[in-house]
Amino acid sequence: MTSYKELGLVNTRDMFAKAVKGGYAIPAYNFNNMEQMQAIVQACVATKSPVILQVSRGARDYANINLLRNMARGVVEYAHELGCDIPIVLHLDHGDSFQTCKDCIDNGFSSVMIDGSSLPYEENIAVTRKVVEYAHQFDVTVEGELGVLAGIEDEVSSATSHYTKPEEVEDFVSKTGVDSLAISVGTSHGAYKFTPEQCTRNAEGILVPPELRFDILSEIEKRLPGFPIVLHGSSSVPQEYVKMINEFGGKLTDSVGIPEEQLRKAAKSAVCKINIDSDGRLAMTGTIRRIFAEKPGEFDPRKYLGPARDALKEMYMHKNIDVLGSAGHALD
Ligand code: G3H
Ligand code: 13P
Ligand code: ZN
Repeated sequence: MTSYKELGLVNTRDMFAKAVKGGYAIPAYNFNNMEQMQAIVQACVATKSPVILQVSRGARDYANINLLRNMARGVVEYAHELGCDIPIVLHLDHGDSFQTCKDCIDNGFSSVMIDGSSLPYEENIAVTRKVVEYAHQFDVTVEGELGVLAGIEDEVSSATSHYTKPEEVEDFVSKTGVDSLAISVGTSHGAYKFTPEQCTRNAEGILVPPELRFDILSEIEKRLPGFPIVLHGSSSVPQEYVKMINEFGGKLTDSVGIPEEQLRKAAKSAVCKINIDSDGRLAMTGTIRRIFAEKPGEFDPRKYLGPARDALKEMYMHKNIDVLGSAGHALD
């Protein structure tokens, strides 16, 4: 058993309390490899932002849990070396069972999500409660979910979303004891969120998707004042990277993500954690494709992974500063 405290990590409790009070959201960036992790930490240190390093079950299988734990330890030391001891959480994204969550808690994770959102309500409560009882013994915080997002998350995919029912949230939170709650208000997983046909054009000619259901969010906030709310599926699908991928041999179909202004508005509310994965994949893939096309003789991985890492860093800095508002809050 390795406690996250030995690794220099923190849980989400204080972080979320400050974010809800301060009207900003903590970035939860997914990572699977060293370059992604370096980019996240460099960006968060440069912007003095707290951060949640997020590991999906797929990432755990890909990278190995022992390596991940030691990478997290390294990340804490790396942030220190870069000049700012930002608070760092190591979080399991979309845990599918008690056993997966327990494995992560026993291996140095400071926060876990138990995603029982596809289960019948009472079963979701039962498994979430069980994870909370185990996690809290070790001061690990737990995220639960109510409502279903469209799109693909790990091996689970849903064609349609079911918005969170505000009338269930108080009962769910009090019966499970979760520390935060992921909700469904119109975001979805993956790079294909809205087709251009589902959008309207604004005055500048930019495609704008249907607005998130801020009415449901504010009803939830009324019922759970000050309680930390989480938004999954919050990539904005930067069109510059979609274009770059297609320009250099890729084949992505047109898609529109969650507009940054809407995320900014959500971050000012009780939404205190915003999950972003797909945007990182797009930025990395676009950059690597561009370098492969422009320098076909290059075969040193550092020559394409390095620039991809720089592009990621720049994108994450922009999100922390201009979208989530977490920049400058590392030492609150
Ligand atoms: O919500 C899911 C994340 O984007 C993780 O995706 O299972 O392909 O690593 P993954
Ligand atoms: P995106 O696919 O919109 O990046 O969402 C990621 C996510 O919710 C991870 O849990
Ligand atoms: Zn998610």
